[in-house]
Amino acid sequence: MGCHDKGHVKRVLELATYIAKKEGADLKIVKIAAELHDIERDKPNHAIESAKTAEKILKNRGFDDIFISKVKHCIEAHSFSSGIEPKTIEAQVLSDADKLDAMGAIGIARAFIFAGENGRTIEDTLKHFEEKLLKLVNCIYTETAKKIAKDRHEFLLQYYKKLKEELSVTKKESKYEVSD
Ligand code: NI
Repeated sequence: MGCHDKGHVKRVLELATYIAKKEGADLKIVKIAAELHDIERDKPNHAIESAKTAEKILKNRGFDDIFISKVKHCIEAHSFSSGIEPKTIEAQVLSDADKLDAMGAIGIARAFIFAGENGRTIEDTLKHFEEKLLKLVNCIYTETAKKIAKDRHEFLLQYYKKLKEELSVTKKESKYEVSD
């Protein structure tokens, strides 16, 4: 999927690395978890499935069990849908990086790529802003990510308001034409 392509993984890796350094998290765990976090993106329960596949890959690469379990926890907990809370700083960093990539200008671009791929309208996407994207700012764990999130959220909110305003004008105008 275009909104979960290699670009997303690369950006999450970069964001996660930046946040991890600032927060003093284990870089090796964060980087490997970021690289593998969406490896089973297309499966239902993708966080859990990605964690399982990551475990196999890392076992084959010869990583020890403790390291693997730490990476697994990051991947399992990066998505709300798994219902698993990120308990370690490394898991919080990955979750934050993944949320940040759904916010700001990139978040908007990804929302519309997703809409295009799934035959969704601008109105559907507006709803997605309300139900998900505009709530992400409250789901950030680390102080470093909170700073970035604040800026991205403001931009998202501005864009949302303008989009809503323009859509309501269009509706009013079309109503006017019909009744005229
Ligand atoms: Ni992701």
